[in-house]
Amino acid sequence: MKVLGIETSCDETGVAVYDTVDGLGAHAVYSQIALHAQYGGVVPELASRDHVRKTLPLIRQTLAEAGLSTADIDGVAYTAGPGLVGALLVGAGVARALAWSLDVPAIAVHHMEGHLLAPLMDDAEQRAALHAGHAPEPFVALLVSGGHTQLVGVDGVGRYRLLGETLDDAAGEAFDKTAKLMGLPYPGGPQLAAIAEQGRPGVFKFARPMTDRPGLDFSFSGLKTQVLLAWRDSDQTDATRADIARAFEDAVVDTLAIKCARALDATGFRRLVVSGGVGANRRLREKLHQLAAQRGAIVGFPPPVLCTDNGAMIAFAGALRLQAGQHADLGVHVTPRWDMSTLPAVELATA
Ligand code: KG4
Ligand code: ZN
Repeated sequence: MKVLGIETSCDETGVAVYDTVDGLGAHAVYSQIALHAQYGGVVPELASRDHVRKTLPLIRQTLAEAGLSTADIDGVAYTAGPGLVGALLVGAGVARALAWSLDVPAIAVHHMEGHLLAPLMDDAEQRAALHAGHAPEPFVALLVSGGHTQLVGVDGVGRYRLLGETLDDAAGEAFDKTAKLMGLPYPGGPQLAAIAEQGRPGVFKFARPMTDRPGLDFSFSGLKTQVLLAWRDSDQTDATRADIARAFEDAVVDTLAIKCARALDATGFRRLVVSGGVGANRRLREKLHQLAAQRGAIVGFPPPVLCTDNGAMIAFAGALRLQAGQHADLGVHVTPRWDMSTLPAVELATA
């Protein structure tokens, strides 16, 4: 079964073809970062218009690269939420219309489910087991992107429990805002992480927010203020910027790791998977590998290209739901705010 995936929830247009037998075929992502950079953040209306420009050309390009025509497609999956309403409507409208014209089902996919399941798509054995009807081993997912920071207990496909989430800024957002206040261009997260590589550990010391009390929620906005004060009162040289970046990164990474450990304890699960743009952070990867090794647990990261927003994860989640007989009606519906725990389960036999 071949499923076309379309992602337009924010500032990336992503298109992919996923085959339940052969795995991921071609996939393409067009990033609007340059478009929004001058405004220091995503401008929703500009995002929608750019998705209008890019979605069809990317579908054509992806199908051509996969050596397929639209007639080969068995279903069209699209991100129906959460996200920017106008941006979502572009993908939903294109996907729904394409599916209707091809007389194949359309599948409305939850963006975060896409992120959650992406690590399973990357593992050929897991993928094959899922398509053969075997449930995955339950795991804890850490979703860390520019829009979300969540810990989710994954009891099965479509069976998600929100264990904790950020009460204010998402981890990626905190990276971006911190980078901005030290003069780095938008989106500064990856640049801040690169600069932190030159920074000396321990020169500055920031709090590990909300780790001194029980619970799995996060709060990152106070850290940004700590950086602001440290930067304002410093000599503002490149070396100091690097030292502050290092201290900030260490604080975020330690905080995420402490909560991941708690989530593993709370669920009794032995597997942790990390997804979302901040999952590309090298120091976070190292730290969570250490944590897993200490506890005899396993940690998995999809490759960075599958960590950030993409159409492949949407095609994959859509394929799993389509195999289970789930698909959307003929309307064009989007759900900009959408609680993952309300999703229907995909019934699979236990492993
Ligand atoms: O998942 P994503 O591509 O988009 C959504 O937000 O949905 O995540 C983008 C976020 C941005 O905030 C970006 O600064 C952050 O991920 N990011 C990083 C790194 N690479 C991307 N943050 C820290 N270290 C990185 N290496
Ligand atoms: Zn995302």
